[in-house]
Amino acid sequence: MVRLLVDCDPGHDDAVALVVASHFGELVGITTVGGNAPLADVTTNALLTCQLFGIDVDVHVGAERPLVAPPRHAPEVHGVSGFEGPALPPLARAAASTEAVEYLIETIRSEEGLWLVPIGPLTNVALAFRQAPDLPSRLAGVSFMGGSAGAGNHTAVGEFNMLVDPEAGSVVLGSGARLHMAGLDLTRQFVIDDALAADVRAIGGPGPVAIADLMVSYLDQLERLGGPRLGGLHDPCAVLAVTHPEVVASQARHVSVELTGSITRGMTVVDRRSARTSEPNVFHGHTLDHPMARSLVLEALAAASGRSDGRSDPGDGVVR
Ligand code: BDR
Ligand code: CA
Repeated sequence: MVRLLVDCDPGHDDAVALVVASHFGELVGITTVGGNAPLADVTTNALLTCQLFGIDVDVHVGAERPLVAPPRHAPEVHGVSGFEGPALPPLARAAASTEAVEYLIETIRSEEGLWLVPIGPLTNVALAFRQAPDLPSRLAGVSFMGGSAGAGNHTAVGEFNMLVDPEAGSVVLGSGARLHMAGLDLTRQFVIDDALAADVRAIGGPGPVAIADLMVSYLDQLERLGGPRLGGLHDPCAVLAVTHPEVVASQARHVSVELTGSITRGMTVVDRRSARTSEPNVFHGHTLDHPMARSLVLEALAAASGRSDGRSDPGDGVVR
């Protein structure tokens, strides 16, 4: 079984990714980064996900803000808390530390061959790689959700995770690590619609019902923004690329991120020319086996739902 670290900013799709990682892989640790919502909220959401699904893994709190840019969140997509929609239980778990970057450095140095799966802005990963340049070669690889070979979501060409911290994206893209990219062009192939939310709800139990409520709230938001009730289940794709590589077809490409463009900042430029003029630095995931990905996610949610009743233990200390 692959051993992995997940760096996240939950968000409903991050929550599903944590469940998938803990079911199909050995989830070694979780780190949080400011992104979909402020750091305190996404940390609460990561801890709640662990509580709801009985995931017994430490959560370490990381960077509050990007390397250079001002903080940016996505309340119009995930709600102000990042977890808008469900009635959630009181939090019964606390973070293990507020030193996510140090945790990543120590853990990756203590064990060769881990996979790192960042599914939020790349701030923590860039900070760790800068402080410890030996990390990229110690990892089996970095499978990140970020960027796009086509349209963006938060700007015409900017995908949220890359747009929030393009300088961190640039550090990671230039790190020499084995990089697997799950950009929007891949992750939009994993459709969230009312049918998926209904299938998740039908699993039953507090965890799946909370995820179904989050999905419905996300679809409601998309509708309010003027679009169809159709979104992408982005973050689990980066996990599946590691646990089930057959689900994602990829191609070695050169990928860079725009740092200076006044209307293109945060855009990932994926060189898809057939005659290669630039050295590949990324395995660009371009095609998802959607039926298989969907059934794997439902399998993971069903397996995890049996592990916990999701309630708080009144004896536990409650810390954000
Ligand atoms: C990415 O941004 C966030 O809103 C999601 O959690 C995902 O990681 C998609 O652009
Ligand atoms: Ca995310």
